[in-house]
Amino acid sequence: MELFGEQVAQPELSCDQLEAILVLLAQQTGLPLFDAYKESCVKRRVVARIRRSGCLDVEQYLRYLQQDAGERERLVTSLSIHVSQFFRNPTLFETLQTVVLPALVQRTAGRPLRIWSVGCSAGEEPYSLAILLVESFGEQVAGEQFEILATDIDRRTLAQAEQALYDADPTLRGVSAARRERFFTEQDGSFKLCPAVQQLVRFRQMDLQLVADYPQADLVLCRNTLIYFNRPAQEKILQALADILPQDGILVLGKSESMPAPLRARFATLDPTERIYSRR
Ligand SMILES: C[S@@+](CC[C@H](N)C(=O)[O-])C[C@H]1O[C@@H](n2cnc3c(N)ncnc32)[C@H](O)[C@@H]1O
Repeated sequence: MELFGEQVAQPELSCDQLEAILVLLAQQTGLPLFDAYKESCVKRRVVARIRRSGCLDVEQYLRYLQQDAGERERLVTSLSIHVSQFFRNPTLFETLQTVVLPALVQRTAGRPLRIWSVGCSAGEEPYSLAILLVESFGEQVAGEQFEILATDIDRRTLAQAEQALYDADPTLRGVSAARRERFFTEQDGSFKLCPAVQQLVRFRQMDLQLVADYPQADLVLCRNTLIYFNRPAQEKILQALADILPQDGILVLGKSESMPAPLRARFATLDPTERIYSRR
């Protein structure tokens, strides 16, 4: 059904048709509607999928979507954007290693420190954190005193995360030569993360919109994921994150994300440049 590179007329997509596609996707996958996402973004991606499927009109695409589980997975994947890198925004990871993690470790002495990477993509972010922990505390302490949970809506990207096999460019661009040497081995031109780091991270499929499912955590990284949601959904998610963090628990947002005004009563800004917030 794929017609890569072939010229297919751009399908017109009315609001009703877009809704029909999203409702069908939600019914068949069990995932909630993507209606909390920014509409222009969703529409553009659905139109692109219709074109790539080779369907001539929206009705044909709806039938195809109903019949083909593979297309449903491809649509979920293209509705969720996976751009990520190891140590994306390197100064943030330096601040986590030198300031945030040591302070949290002191505060949670006597029990494991719980870290949650929300919208973890193919594991680049939680594995970067796991590397920091091994460097700072050693493999054994990192395994005993820290729990890293990494969640994403997209099963396909989570399967890549479990494999922990990456291309050098651009995914490993932020990994120094010393770290690459210590934590990765080359495999047919790609790089495999070492088991000692890999085993520190647990992956789970989870939709950020289902706030009742949120785990307790001391440090939450929710970077470059909220930007795809509309403002009411962003606020609902941030309220729920405030509920599961303890007082002085830490939330990190992405560089292009900011704390909406109604949430400032619940989060104090610790580092405006790195977008680090503390639960009041
Ligand atoms: C741009 S990536 C960010 C990856 C990483 N946090 C970073 O900053 O490099 C956004 C991730 O959010 C995930 N995502 C999108 N909608 C989601 C949802 N409703 N629930 C959980 N994850 C979601 C996507 O699948 C994607 O992997």
